[in-house]
Amino acid sequence: MTDPAAGLSIRRIGPEDGATLNALAETDNLFDEDPAVAPSVALTPDGARDFLADPTVLFWLAQVEDLTVGFLHCCVQRRRTHGPWAELLLMEMGTHAGYRRQGIGRALIAAMEDWMRANGVRDVWVPADTSAVGFYRKCGFATDEGEILVKELH
Ligand SMILES: CC(C)(COP(=O)(O)OP(=O)(O)OC[C@H]1O[C@@H](n2cnc3c(N)ncnc32)[C@H](O)[C@@H]1OP(=O)(O)O)[C@@H](O)C(=O)NCCC(=O)NCCS
Repeated sequence: MTDPAAGLSIRRIGPEDGATLNALAETDNLFDEDPAVAPSVALTPDGARDFLADPTVLFWLAQVEDLTVGFLHCCVQRRRTHGPWAELLLMEMGTHAGYRRQGIGRALIAAMEDWMRANGVRDVWVPADTSAVGFYRKCGFATDEGEILVKELH
């Protein structure tokens, strides 16, 4: 296994990286808290390009050489009131199960924060899995009032 400290790169991917996004989908169970779950179903090539071309989508990959070892996906949400023009919703992130606790998650959060500073965005929200709360706290997140609810239509 490669030492991520040597040669870790974080890059934001764009519409030309659809194949990389779809390759990640095929093994994204390895980035889940429970790697026994089934991997996701990838988008079509056009769907992946359109997803990454969407200006409200921010997607970073952590790579060691050509190997993807982590990812972070945020959604840009415009605000309707005075103040910063938008805030971020951190939709999903994961570090490959074989590379955890080596600073990759923190490096992905730092890349997101660099984007926030460069783009005048101050707040980022995350609906966190319970098992990941300790990680987010280490990265400076705090608990807000209220609860995050979800409804799925059947
Ligand atoms: C949560 C996750 C992304 C963290 O990634 P990581 O690359 O292991 O994180 P880092 O190595 O950068 O850790 C940064 C700090 O958080 C700590 N940390 C990491 N995971 C933690 C956890 N689950 N609980 C408490 N602390 C944690 C690390 O020890 C480190 O602390 P330190 O800087 O004081 O040494 C990773 O465990 C993961 O992919 N989990 C499964 C998917 C998941 O839960 N994603 C989040 C969904 S909301």
